[in-house]
Amino acid sequence: MNVTTSFLEKGILLSPEITKDPVLLEKLSQIKNKYLKAGVIINKVFLRKIGLLEEESTTKVKVLFSYNQKPGKITVNDFVSYFNKRFELLSSFLRQRQELQRVTSINRLKNMKHRETIAIIGLVFDKRITKNNNIILTLEDPSGKINIIISNKKKEIFELAKEIVLDELIGVEGVVAGSFVFSNQIFIPDIPFLKELKKGPEEECVAIVGDPHFGSKAFLKKEFNDFIEWINQRKGSEEQREIASKVKHLIIIGDLVEGVGIYPGQEKNLEIKDIKEQYDLFTEHLKKIPKNINIIICPGNHDIGRLSEPQPPLLHKYTESLQSLPNVLLLSNPAYINIGATKDFPGFDFLLYHGYSLIYYADNVENIRARGGQKRPDLIMKFLLQRRHLAPTHTSNLYVPNPDSDPLIINKSPDFFITGHIHRLSVSNYKNITLLNCSCWTGLTEDMEKRGLEPQPAKVPIINLKTREVKIINFLKEEKPELKNEKIL
Ligand SMILES: [Fe+2]
Ligand SMILES: [Fe+2]
Repeated sequence: MNVTTSFLEKGILLSPEITKDPVLLEKLSQIKNKYLKAGVIINKVFLRKIGLLEEESTTKVKVLFSYNQKPGKITVNDFVSYFNKRFELLSSFLRQRQELQRVTSINRLKNMKHRETIAIIGLVFDKRITKNNNIILTLEDPSGKINIIISNKKKEIFELAKEIVLDELIGVEGVVAGSFVFSNQIFIPDIPFLKELKKGPEEECVAIVGDPHFGSKAFLKKEFNDFIEWINQRKGSEEQREIASKVKHLIIIGDLVEGVGIYPGQEKNLEIKDIKEQYDLFTEHLKKIPKNINIIICPGNHDIGRLSEPQPPLLHKYTESLQSLPNVLLLSNPAYINIGATKDFPGFDFLLYHGYSLIYYADNVENIRARGGQKRPDLIMKFLLQRRHLAPTHTSNLYVPNPDSDPLIINKSPDFFITGHIHRLSVSNYKNITLLNCSCWTGLTEDMEKRGLEPQPAKVPIINLKTREVKIINFLKEEKPELKNEKIL
């Protein structure tokens, strides 16, 4: 006899919201006999009343962007259209500047007089340093290419030019000199300055978990379990439990599992060798998180599915257990969401990106490399915001050349820019945008050592949307015996 019939025989009705949800159906066996009287209707309200279902989160998460296009066959023309589209979208940001109101297309420069002042916009096709330590950039727009000379005597623009990477879009103001342009000014798209730090009306918190890597031998089980205990308000100081009580959203920024076959010889470092089992274990842990907390998840490069960005949401047969959780929202990488909007408040925009490209810029931008490279996710994130692109250089990530749009363009200034992948914790502010790179739950592995990563594991940044304070709770056992929180911002 199925469960619905047995309840019907007792004169108890089950609402469709219960019968259609396997998680809620499981709860039926936990209902005490004293509640099972003829005439009772079992629905979510009833389950909440008898304490078997927690209150749903009152603030909603609005998805502003999550990539869901089906992959098609990619041709060379797609790459051409993709770069033309990128040129069109990024140049629209630069054209808002006074100095770039009258831009000339590159093929028209050959008709210009010697020493005539011009302004152009182009993608950086090539960059080299001359014997005399000047920089030559080859700029390209849809009409052609031109060489730009940046003299080392012009200190300010020379410093800016040193940071320029291939394929990024810049504007140049300068004078024509034969087949060259001598640059007087360089412009990058950048984001506008937000006049004030936006603060929300509600005392609610967003916790962020970076790179759990379930299935790895180096996964920090005890620490992650302590995190689960804390979020249930069963562990930590009084202040820490109070913070946990205000958490309404949890963002997990990719690399949920260690994956299989990610790098040669990975198998010997795996505690769980089956990808589905890795996701099942991850799901078991998420089930222990209070159901009134929205869990927002992006994939990372260790997760199942394609590596090319945008990576689609984790709607895969191996992640079925994860998909069955009622409070989980699976999004693409990157994704944009809005949290905390009310009738009178626009909410906060979050740009979520796992961060595959970050390491390229840590290694290839002199200014970032010299100041700590991968240990400075704050500088890398600022660099990307200034370029308004999550991976401006062709080789810094794998990507789908979408001919109609470039989903890696930072179209809209977010309030929060969240990344992971580097396994380090960093909280900073750029033009009133909070930048957060979000730790990990794995100790140092052979693979990380090879890639020059120095992890800062088991730390959870928690954003208070009312005060904009970010507090960090440190769950790492060896480093500090007690859970410790540090006020960072
Ligand atoms: Fe990772
Ligand atoms: Fe990663």
